[in-house]
Amino acid sequence: MISSEAAPFAKTGGLADVVGSLPAALRAFGDEVAVVIPRYGSIDLKDARRVWDNLAVHFGPDAYPVSIYRAPAEHPVYLVDCPPLFDRKGFYGESGTDYPDNHIRFAVFCRAALSVARFLFRTDIFHCHDWQTGLVPAYLRTTFARDPTFLGCRTLFTIHNLGYQGLFPKTVLEEVALDPAVYRPDGMEFFGQVSYLKAGMEFADAVSTVSPTYAREIQTPEFGFGMDARLRARAQVLSGILNGVDYADWSPQTDAHIAARYGPEDLSGKAACKRQLLEEFGLPPEAMERPLLGTVSRFTRQKGADILAEIAAQIVAEDVYLVALGTGDPEYEDFFRLMQQEHPGRIAARIGFDNALAHRIEAGADIFLMPSHYEPCGLNQIYSLHYGTVPVVRATGGLDDTIEEGTGFKFAEYSGQAFLEAVRAAVRVFADREAWRRMMLRGMAKDFSWKTSAAAYSELYRRLLAG
Ligand code: ADP
Ligand code: GLC
Repeated sequence: MISSEAAPFAKTGGLADVVGSLPAALRAFGDEVAVVIPRYGSIDLKDARRVWDNLAVHFGPDAYPVSIYRAPAEHPVYLVDCPPLFDRKGFYGESGTDYPDNHIRFAVFCRAALSVARFLFRTDIFHCHDWQTGLVPAYLRTTFARDPTFLGCRTLFTIHNLGYQGLFPKTVLEEVALDPAVYRPDGMEFFGQVSYLKAGMEFADAVSTVSPTYAREIQTPEFGFGMDARLRARAQVLSGILNGVDYADWSPQTDAHIAARYGPEDLSGKAACKRQLLEEFGLPPEAMERPLLGTVSRFTRQKGADILAEIAAQIVAEDVYLVALGTGDPEYEDFFRLMQQEHPGRIAARIGFDNALAHRIEAGADIFLMPSHYEPCGLNQIYSLHYGTVPVVRATGGLDDTIEEGTGFKFAEYSGQAFLEAVRAAVRVFADREAWRRMMLRGMAKDFSWKTSAAAYSELYRRLLAG
C-alpha cells in the first residue's frame, strides 16, 4: 500500500485511519501488506531501522538521495526518507499554500515505493491511495512496462477524495521523467494540465472509492469534478468499498483519551465524558440537561462549513450547546472564533489538530454534526455511532450509506434551512429520554469493523491477479 498518510505515523484525515488499519484486517484473508509512506519531519526515526541507503532516484540530470527506514509496527511500514523534499513542517504545504515542488516530491516518493517493491518487499499488488500515489501506475505502464521485476503485478487505485487532483502544468512531465505520451485525454491530461489523480485513475488496472454511493456520485457532473466522463468510461473497473474502522482505536469501552469508559450495557460513563468536555470548553454545567452538539472537521466547504456557519446562531437559539474542533480555511476558522465571542457559554471552538480532543468530543457530545457537501465515506459519523453520539448528516456519499433512520438524522438538500430542520428534529427526539436512549443503542449496535470491507478488497486483489 502506497499512501501519503498512515496512522499513527502521519495523519491529517481519514486516509491515515484507513491505511493505518486496513493492512492488519487483510491479514485474516492471508494477504501480507507492507505500507510505504514519506518520512515527514514530524516522524521520529529513533525507533526505526535503516534498511536501504542512498537509493538515488534519477530524473534526467537530477538525482534525489533517498534512504528507506522500517518503522516498528506489526506489518512492514517503510518510510521514504529524502530530507530535502520531506523534512518540512507540513505534509503538503504550509499556511494554506501548497509546496511548489509537490510534483517532484510525490514523483520521487512513487519511484522510491517502486524500489521498495524491487528490493525489499516482493509485491503482487500495488494498492495506491489518492493523487500523491497516482504516478505509480503511470510509471509501471510506461517506464517499467518491460521490467521483469514487475511482470504480472497489478495495480489498484483508491480515490479517497476526487476534489484533490494533483494538478500541475504539463511541463512537469519532463521534470519527473514521464513519457510525454501520457499527455492524452485517457491519460494524465486534464483541461490543458496534468493530473496525478487522473494518472492513477487511468493507468491502474482497477479503481475503487470508499463507499458505494460515492462510486455512483463521482460518475455524475455534480460530483465528478470534471472527471465524471472518464470515470463513466472506466465504470467496468470502478467499485465502491465502504471504509471500515478500527474499534481498537475508537471504542468508548477502551478509549484512554476519555474521562470515563462506557458501553451499551452501561451508559453512565458518557455523562462523565460530557461533564468533562463542558468543563474543558468552559461551557456551563446547566448544559448537562440540554443537547451538546459536537463537530470535528476540516473546516472546508466539502465539510459543509458554510451551511454550519449560516445557521450556527439559529442552532444555539434552540437552547443547545455547540463545541467544534477543526482547522481549515482561514475564513471558517475566523468564523468559529467570532461565534465563540458572540455566543460565550454557548459555542466554544478549538482551532487546531488534536487527536485526544477529537476522541473526547466523540464521547462527550450528544449529537454529532456532519453537514457535508460531499463525503466520499466519512469516518467521524461511524465513530459517533459507536460512542452513542447521534449523527446529523447530509445524505451524500458514505454518510448516506452508513446512517439510517433510527440511528441518525439525514437531510437531503444542501441548504442551511434543511440542515437546521434536521438539527431541530434531533433536538425534539432528545427531549424524549427513552426514545433517545434507544436511538443511541441502535447506533452503538452497528458494526462497521473492517471484516466485510477487508474481504471485499482481498477478493478484488485476487480477481486482479487472476485476470
Ligand atoms: P476527512 O478524511 O475527509 O477529513 P473523515 O471523517 O474520513 O474525513 O476522517 C477524519 C479523521 O480525521 C477522523 O479520524 C477525525 O477524528 C480526524 N480529524 C479531523 N480533523 C481533526 C482535528 N482538527 N483534530 C483531530 N482529529 C481530526
Ligand atoms: C477522505 C474523505 C473522507 C474519507 C477519507 C478516508 O479524506 O474526505 O470522506 O472517509 O478520505 O477514505
